[in-house]
Amino acid sequence: MSPRDGSRSHHPFGKAADILVRQDAPFNAGPRPERVQASFVTPVDQFFVRNHGDVPDIDPRTFHLTIEGRVKRPFRFSLEEMRRLPKVTVAATLQCAGNRRQELIEERPIPGELPWGMEAISTAEWSGVPLREVLAVAEPDAAAHHVELIGFDEAERHGHRFAFGGSIPLDKAMRPEVLLAYEMNGQPLPPVHGAPLRAVVPGWIGARSIKWLSRINLTEAPSENYFQSKAYRLFPPQTGPENVVWDEGLMLGEFNVSSVICSPGEGETVAAGAQTVRGWAFAGERRVARVDVSIDGGSTWLTAELEPERSRWAWRHWEARVDLAPGPCEIVCRAWDSAAQTQPEGAAAVWNFKGYMNNAWHHVRLTAG
Ligand code: MTE
Repeated sequence: MSPRDGSRSHHPFGKAADILVRQDAPFNAGPRPERVQASFVTPVDQFFVRNHGDVPDIDPRTFHLTIEGRVKRPFRFSLEEMRRLPKVTVAATLQCAGNRRQELIEERPIPGELPWGMEAISTAEWSGVPLREVLAVAEPDAAAHHVELIGFDEAERHGHRFAFGGSIPLDKAMRPEVLLAYEMNGQPLPPVHGAPLRAVVPGWIGARSIKWLSRINLTEAPSENYFQSKAYRLFPPQTGPENVVWDEGLMLGEFNVSSVICSPGEGETVAAGAQTVRGWAFAGERRVARVDVSIDGGSTWLTAELEPERSRWAWRHWEARVDLAPGPCEIVCRAWDSAAQTQPEGAAAVWNFKGYMNNAWHHVRLTAG
């Protein structure tokens, strides 16, 4: 796939030439703010990538998905069998729990984690089989409370190599929006996004949308996989690697409400006077209710215009007209969700040593001239 300007991408996996690369191996990258804002559905060559290991090479002809554990009928599906089940399409935003970690790092260092700016988020139209159709065939037994999803790829942590995995509660797994997807934006799912089959768990942290699915295991308790039992947990600000008790962290699942300003961009010079500010807002399991914009540090706010909701599971783009006096200025935004919850004022209030779930007010510093 070629990038928009016609030149060949020098990035792997056909990603656009202008994508922001956070790490080459494993490959981790995401779209620039202006690309995020350009469309409701993110083109595949701009869609962010979060990998913990190498992209596995899976032969779709011999591929099988195994369903086992607390089920009455353990089962194996080929891709062909999967495609015979009902196909649905859901437009859903995927966001990494580490999105906007860089702003937390500016408060206090977070060694060993990717310094994501605001590029670990994108939206696609995912097509595939509702997970509940597959679970219905295997018939969860009465003790099944969690659905563990395991990938073919391997990551290495603390000297051990193991498959990437995690779990979601059975009641979320039974919801119609949770998919086993084999298409993305109407095309076969690309290798870097989990081909031949991935989970898509709308409204939840991206880490639960397991790529390169190999196995589904129904269990009584949440997965003991490192990426569920240690990583992707939220700890209080006084906790660090030296005193962490992993079991005490809050296991992350649903996303919190968040919004950012995509344009104008940080450090830009814009004309003084009337300016349009644009961004996105996303509320996970809840709905975006309102976005506020301030040019006086949050003393006064004006209400942004929200694009109509195109999908219950996706971000909403918004815009607001502000009047900028000449000189340095700062624009701030915050969103509210359908439970009247809003974003915290500063990143210091949500700092945690793994750098997850930063949903502080988003600031852009500019010069109006
Ligand atoms: N699944 C597997 N098998 N391996 C991974 O490294 N990363 C997870 C999730 N699923 C990951 C995975 C994380 S943290 C995120 S945010 C999303 O995939 C990113 O999906 P994407 O690369 O398609 O954007």
